[in-house]
Parts: sequence; C-alpha cells; structure tokens
Amino acid sequence: MNDFTFSCPTRFVFARGATGRVGAELAAAGHARALVVFGQGSVVRTGTLGRVLASLDAAGVAHAELGGARPNPSVAHVREGIAAARSFQADVILAVGGGSTIDTAKAIALGAPYAGDVWDLFAKKAAPVAEGKPAVACVLTIPAAGSEASDSSVISNDDLLLKRGLSTELNRPELAVMDPELTFTLPAYQTAAGVTDMIAHIMERYFSSVGPVPVTDNIACGLVRALMQEAPRALADPDDYDARANIMWAGMLAHNGLAGLGRNAAPFTRAGGWESHALEHELSAHHAQITHGAGLAVVFPAWMRYVWRSAPERFLSFGRDVFGIEPVDAEADGVDVTAEEAVADAVSATIDELQDFFVSMGMPSTLGELGVTAEDIPSLLGTLEQNKGAEFGDIRRLTMDDARAIYESCL
Ligand code: NZQ
Ligand code: ZN
Repeated sequence: MNDFTFSCPTRFVFARGATGRVGAELAAAGHARALVVFGQGSVVRTGTLGRVLASLDAAGVAHAELGGARPNPSVAHVREGIAAARSFQADVILAVGGGSTIDTAKAIALGAPYAGDVWDLFAKKAAPVAEGKPAVACVLTIPAAGSEASDSSVISNDDLLLKRGLSTELNRPELAVMDPELTFTLPAYQTAAGVTDMIAHIMERYFSSVGPVPVTDNIACGLVRALMQEAPRALADPDDYDARANIMWAGMLAHNGLAGLGRNAAPFTRAGGWESHALEHELSAHHAQITHGAGLAVVFPAWMRYVWRSAPERFLSFGRDVFGIEPVDAEADGVDVTAEEAVADAVSATIDELQDFFVSMGMPSTLGELGVTAEDIPSLLGTLEQNKGAEFGDIRRLTMDDARAIYESCL
C-alpha cells in the first residue's frame, strides 16, 4: 500500500428535494453572488433551474445565468463564462447539471483570476492559483463523471482538436447538492453511459501496477457489484428512487479518489494509468457528439484484452470478486487445459461478462456504432501523442502502435 494524500472537502447535501436548499447552503457559506451555469436546456425543461433560482432568491443570493454548456464542453464557452463571472463579480460559480456543466464551472472559476487565456492552464503553461478564485458549487443532475467531488475539469479546444483534463485540489467543489429525484428524467442512454463511466473510473484505478490493497480493492469491487445490481433497476423503472440514489452516490465514490487509495504507483500521485480514458478522450474530442461513457464502453474492454497479460493476477482477482469467475483447476475439474489456458479463459470470460453488461444497458461495443472509422485513427493518434507523449500507461506502457492496435481491435 503506497503513500498518498487524500482530501475530500466537498459538503454533500444528499436528499429528496435537496435542490430547494441550495440558496440557504450558499448563503450560510457566506456567498452573495452566484453565476449559475447550466447545459443545453434539460434543467429548464424539468423545472430544476427555476427551483434553483427561487432558492437563491429566497436566501438573498444575487445571481446571473449562463446556459449552453454542451456535452464535452468547449473552452470557447468557458471564456464566455469567465467574462460573465468577472463582470458580475461572482463569488461562487454554481453548476446545475452534469460533468460538462460542472467542468465548465470549474474552469470558469480557475480562469476568472488568471490574466491570460484560460487554455494556458489546460496546456500546463501556467498554474492555477487560489487567490481571487470564486468557489464552485453544484446541483448534480446526472451521475456519471464524478465531477461533483473530483479534482478534475475536462475541457475541449475545438480549434486544436484537443480535450484536456486539469487536475488540482482547487477544482474540488465546496458544495454538491445531490437530489436523486432529478435523475428520473435521464434518458436510458445517459443513465447507461453514466454507469459505464463510473465503472471505468473504478477500473482505471484497480488495474494499476500496484499489487493487492485489500481495503481499497474491496471498496472498488463492491462499488462495481452495486452498480451492476442497481443499473438494471433504474433502467427498468426510471423513477426507482433507491436505484437512482445508489447510483448517484456510487458515482461520487467512484471518482473522488477513495476507490484508488494506496494503488498509486508513485507516492502521492493518482492511482492507475488512465489508459482507457486517454483513448476515449480522443474519440470525444474529435467527435463532440460521442458520449464519454459510451466511448469507454467500447475502448475499455479492448484495452483489457490487449494488456491483461502484463498483470494477470489483477484481472483474475477482478473476475473473482465481481463475477465469481475462477480459472478451472485441470486436475480437480478433470479437464485437459494447461494452467496458462485456464487463466486466459478466466480473464477472457471476465472481460466478456463486463462487455456483455455494458451492451445489456444499451452501450455500443464497436467504434463503428460511434461513427468512428479506420480512416479516423491516424488523426486520433496524432492528438493522443500530443496529449500523452510517445508512450503512456501504467500496467503496460503503450506506444502509438499499441494504441492503433487497440483502436483497430474495436472497429
Ligand atoms: O445539456 P443538457 O440539456 O442539460 O442535457 C444533458 C446532456 O445532454 C443531459 N442531462 C443531464 N442531466 C439530465 C439530462 N437530461 C435529462 N434529465 C437530466 N436530469 O445529459 C447529457 C450529458 O450531460 P453531461 O454533463 O455531458 O454528462 P456527464 O456527467 O457524463 O459529463 C461528461 C463530461 O465529463 C467529462 C467527460 O469527458 C465529458 O466531457 N469527465 C469529467 C471528469 C471530471 N471532471 O472529473 C471525469 C470523467 O472521466 C470525464 O472525463
Ligand atoms: Zn470518465
């Protein structure tokens, strides 16, 4: 178990009807001027935005609004938000939406006190500073990205075809209002993509080069089992409060860092190599219509099939703890397979089960279903190399040739 630091300063208000408490919470924290950021209209249609604004009014928190955060949010929109935050003199950026809206709010908050262009921070040309930075708060409407408590903001630059994450403790929201009833209106595809993203966040940390860390590994596998149990319930009955609530909380636990503690290869770094996220972010950077979780449903199993031989024991333990899959024992079971074949069969069955689960929720299993073809791969590799360098990854270092092979394996 390796050395780590862990801080999760976010205050969670998790309840039916919690939306109506956001104004009082912000006022109690000393905030007086909120820039309310939202997406492309779902919160207007559902009435959530109206309830948030009424709650701010009731608590005496002044507000200005900025709609239009798109899925795979753009830096152009962030720049608009920075101008709005400055002119309104916002002391808190309140996101009402999902990962795309929250990441926009985080980037606005980091960019507001920075004199240069906010993309400098994502390009790592400048470091974000706390001084003069508005706080970030959110009312979460889709459990998926885990941005409600994560240290990351992920923003796309359409001019450069780059999608970049910026991780800093300054990104952790001060307040996350989590009202599971808000997620009843989610389309099945978004519910499924969200659950896929959560499982991916857990697996990126689980499949790291560090050996077993039982306390963390049990949290990880327990979360995956709970998600696999609750997701079909929410898909069958979108108004199932308990299923929605469990999924919502799991999304936070999957990505606030808890599910990887001690699994970090170098002291005080993030656990895992995040290879599948790197491969996916190129897909949704080049094709903004691709839903992040759907892209992960395609590339994660492909990555697993490509690399598992570098850490077979991790894949066996995942199969055992999540699916109850054990390699056959040739002697005891009276079958004619070598030990190596038994391990390969067990790992293969594990990856098949996982992929079947994603597909059972309505997720794609091929790049073709996402509208990505073989002709797209060279340009994906070009920006992947800009983002990750010539080699990346943890349990197995991947070159651009490896990345090409993984993309090609899921055409
Ligand atoms: O834009 P609106 O109209 O609000 O519609 C959204 C959007 O179309 C809709 N939606 C959200 N809540 C709804 C709803 N529709 C009906 N009822 C509701 N209650 O759902 C769609 C997806 O929303 P989005 O915010 O894009 O989803 P998600 O939370 O999956 O965020 C995805 C973004 O987060 C990034 C992804 O790369 C992607 O850009 N990530 C952020 C991370 C982080 N900050 O820590 C980590 C992740 O790995 C991820 O990379
Ligand atoms: Zn993700």
